[in-house]
Parts: sequence; structure tokens; C-alpha cells
Amino acid sequence: MTSLIPDDVLEAIRQGVSIVDVVGAHVTLKRAGRSWKGLCPFHGEKTPSFVVNEERGTYHCFGCGVGGNVFRFLMEAEGRSFREAVEVLAARAGVVLRVGSDSPEDRRERQERDVLLELLEMAARYYRQQLVAGRAGEAARAYLTRRGIGAEVAEEFRLGCAPPGWDNLARYLSGKGSDPGLAARAGLLSERTTGGYYDRLRDRLVFPITDASGRVVSFGGRVLGAGEPKYLNGPESPVFHKSEMLYGLHQAGEALRREKRALLVEGYVDVLSLHAAGFRSALATLGTSLTREHTQALKRRVDEVVLLYDGDEAGRRAAFRSLELFLTAVLPCRVVLLPGEHDPDSYVRSGGDLEARIGEARPLFVAFLAELSERRDQGTVEGRLAAVEALLPVLAAVSDPLARDLYLRQAAEVLGVGEDLLRARVARPGAASTPPAEPEEVDPVERALVRCLLLEPTLRARFSAHGVEEWMRSDVLRRAAAFLASRSEGAEVVPVHDAPADLASLLSAMLVEEGPPMAPYEALEARLRLRCLDAKNADLARETQRAVANGDDAEVLRLQRAKMELDQARQECRRQIGA
Ligand code: UTP
Ligand code: MN
Repeated sequence: MTSLIPDDVLEAIRQGVSIVDVVGAHVTLKRAGRSWKGLCPFHGEKTPSFVVNEERGTYHCFGCGVGGNVFRFLMEAEGRSFREAVEVLAARAGVVLRVGSDSPEDRRERQERDVLLELLEMAARYYRQQLVAGRAGEAARAYLTRRGIGAEVAEEFRLGCAPPGWDNLARYLSGKGSDPGLAARAGLLSERTTGGYYDRLRDRLVFPITDASGRVVSFGGRVLGAGEPKYLNGPESPVFHKSEMLYGLHQAGEALRREKRALLVEGYVDVLSLHAAGFRSALATLGTSLTREHTQALKRRVDEVVLLYDGDEAGRRAAFRSLELFLTAVLPCRVVLLPGEHDPDSYVRSGGDLEARIGEARPLFVAFLAELSERRDQGTVEGRLAAVEALLPVLAAVSDPLARDLYLRQAAEVLGVGEDLLRARVARPGAASTPPAEPEEVDPVERALVRCLLLEPTLRARFSAHGVEEWMRSDVLRRAAAFLASRSEGAEVVPVHDAPADLASLLSAMLVEEGPPMAPYEALEARLRLRCLDAKNADLARETQRAVANGDDAEVLRLQRAKMELDQARQECRRQIGA
């Protein structure tokens, strides 16, 4: 994605805007020494741990670990893509984004995406027009009335309808001079095996699916009466990726920012019904189960998700299937399992007190435990064992050891099994599907070295040339160093925006540190090298002992020569460290 915009352009934009101004639009900032401080907009807190460093153009929250530069801030705070954030800030900085500097391939792809988006927008207007004014819209309007979806919500969600017939949209689009092949790429038309194209949605109520900034990327369609399939969703396309889309994300944007909580439902109509009833943070997945992309998108926006699922078997299963995802994402989740045959739409429309249900919603993990102990036959040994088996992958998804222990205690109590035995079962290799990684020790030397590479881009080439990566032990620091080394070109750029999340968090923390002056880079490098040579030295000593014991004189001689060379190198390192 970054390759589309050259580093020097990004740097010009960064120089041209004040990160304090940009962040200041979302957070009240107060000066604190050389930085600015405020309440973190990404997690609920009462004392400020969110720091902005104007000089370096970065922010970091010491509470929740988020951080980055001005691009990343806009992406996370306003749910924009990297490209959008760049466009917004370029306009602000007065920097012109020249499309011509991309690779031809990138340009072609982006042009195609733009065309598809235009076609989708055209179709949205067409469908909307049909619903509002068309004769064919009568049935759809009656249907909306019957389902209690008012004009306001219908307008906000740009609901439309596809008239009966095979080629209404196809003819409309070709009348506008559009290429039907591209309309098919956008998921609007389907290709006949005999050649030619026909409308994908026919005689249906139409729900435009938009991205976070409100651009139409696909459509869902519901039959107006009985019929199969009840809902038809658009296919995957260059602009529509189902597994990361949430219906209503654009309309819910403001409520999500305000409430820091999302209500997650399963159906289009549930979203509309809840918005109409004043629950403006309602979102739905698009006929797929929840994915990691979804929880990531949610985590960037809210502190908590409340699942509002049907109380039936399918609803419960769907809710519990997502438990591991929420635990892995460390995103708190509570669940409301609605009574009887209700879904959120029918529940609010029949006068149910949803606010109260949300208030008393139990954490998803607690509800899962309750379900386990109810479902499994707790009277038998087999029943209890089965419950424990079902629990293991869930506990393994909790990466924070403290949190895992707390969950484990709760589980042991509810299931009536020994806490220590359960702990042993979770810890046993192979017992859990994904053994959680223990947080690693941070080596201060490696950390200081990464900080040098971050702040002094000219060092990155040397890092690569000397093969320093080999000498590093900490996985995350080694990845951070390698990431920085791979960005040696645009010398001034602080490349935090496109780092993987854990690296971005680490690097942005380093950027706002006002620590003591750095140790000279050469000395840090020498220390790592020395550590490596010392380990080799120990190996050599062992080998020599063995060779002496075996009476292998030739080998002893060879090892002694190697030892001399090694000692010279170690001496050299010590000199560099002392300097
Ligand atoms: P439901 O069958 O629970 O329907 O599907 P609903 O949302 O309550 O619909 P109404 O109230 O009868 O209008 C839930 C979601 O599953 C997907 C859709 O996204 C739907 O909103 N779905 C359902 C499909 O994709 N295809 C189908 O045939 C049915
Ligand atoms: Mn329904």
C-alpha cells in the first residue's frame, strides 16, 4: 500500500501538518514538558497517559500501547485507510499527490477500483430512485412500512429496490456508457454462459453496503415476500472484502466514537431497527461469521462489544464461536442472548427493553462457562472431561498470563474441577491448540540499538552490512530492527505507519521517550557481537576439552588457532565498547 506514495511525499505531508492540531481535534491536549498530554481516545481512562511529541510527529499511549505518526492516528481515530489518511492530510498540508509516480500496475489497479466505485455509486442512486419514485418501488415501500423502517432510516442507509426483470440495471448502466464487464467485476451484473449480462439483484429490497467513510462497495438484497435465498449478498470484488466489512459502520461512526461500545447483531434489518430505536452503534457482519479482521476493526474503534444474538441454538453457537477471537484481540465482549424466537429487530419492535438487557449482559466468557456446565452432563466424569476439553483452546487464546489465570480460576470453580489440575492441563504442551507466547525479556542493549536505528536512519545500512540481526536474541526487537533496516531510503521518514501493530507500538513508545542520550551505536553493536563471540568461545573450550580427552592432536591444534582468532575479535569488541 505504501509503495503507492513515495517516502519523500509522506515526509513533506508530515512536515506540513502539526500532529498536535490533528490529534487536538479529537483529544484535549495540555503541554507537559516538551510533549503534550491528554486522555487516550483509544481506551477509557481517567488520568492522561496519551502523549504527543510535536518535534518527532508521533503519539503514544502508555496505557494501552497504541501509537504511531499522524497518518496512523487518523487511520485509527477516524477509521480511515492509509490512503485516505494521506489524502486528507495532504490536502491540509497543501501537498499535491502526483498519481504519476506509482508503478503502472498500482495505477491500473487503483484506476479500476475507482471505476468500480463509480459504478457502485451509480447503481446505489438507481436503486434508491426506484424505491422513492419508481412504480416498481411500491411493493418495496409497502414492505418497509410493514417492517416499521421509517423514511429517515431508509434515507440514511440509502435503501433502494431492484425492480422485477432481468436487465433493468444492465440497461440503465449501458445507457450511461458503462462497460458491463466492469459492472460484473463490481458484482452488479452476472455474465450469462451464452454471452451477455443480466442483473444480479432482481425484485429485491436493496441494502447498500458502505465502507467506513460511506463509499458504496457492494449490495445486499432481500426478497420482498417468501423466496430463496432470503438474502443475496454481493460477491467478493476488488473493492469488497466481506470478511472485514461491517454493515452500518459508516452510520454508526459517531456513536462508536462517543460511546466506545459497539452493538453487534447478525442481520441487516436488525441494524436498521436498532438505529431507528436510537441504538446508533449497531453493526452487523454480512452473513459470515466473525473474523479476526472484524475484531481488529472493532478494537480500533471501541473498548467493548456487546453481542445481541438470537437466543436459539444457532445464535448461541455463533456467539460462543467468536469467544476465542475476542480473547485473542483482548477486546472485552459481553453477550445478550435474546429470549425465545426473538432477534434484535423483533425484540425492540415488540416493546422489549433492550437497554436493560444490555445493562445486565454477561461477559461472553462467563456465559460460555454457564453454557458448558449446563450442556455437558456434569454428573458424569465424561461430561466434565468434555467440558474441560472445550475450554482448553479458549484459555489458550488468552495471551496475558495474569488474565489467563483469572479466567482459569473462574472456570475451575464453575466446572467443579481442581484449579491446579486444570492449570496443569492448560500448561501441558499439546494440550492447547496454540500455546500462548510468554512475554520475552527485553534486552536493554538490543532495545537501545533499535532506538538508534529508529532515530538515526543513516545507521540502518551499517546494521544490514554487518549482519547484526544474527546477533540479536529478542524476537520482537530483531523484527523491529529488520523492519527499520528495510526502510533505509527516505532518510528522514519515521516509518511507523506501516509497521505491524506490535512493532508500531514498540517504535512509537521509543519515539516519545525523552531518555538519556543514546550510547554510541558502535558500542552497542560491539556488545552484541561480543556476546555472540563469548558464546562461541565457550563452545570452543568444550570442543577442545573433548579433543584433548580423545588425544586428537590435529584437532586440538586447529581449535587453538581458531581460539586465537576469536580472542583477537573479542579484544577488538572490548576496545569498541570501552571507547
Ligand atoms: P436471518 O435469517 O436471521 O434473517 O439472517 P434476518 O436478518 O432476521 O432477516 P429478516 O428479519 O427475516 O429480514 C441474518 C443474516 O444472515 C444473512 C444476512 O446477512 C442476514 O441479514 N443471510 C441470511 C444471508 O446472507 N442469506 C440468507 O439467505 C439468509
Ligand atoms: Mn429478523
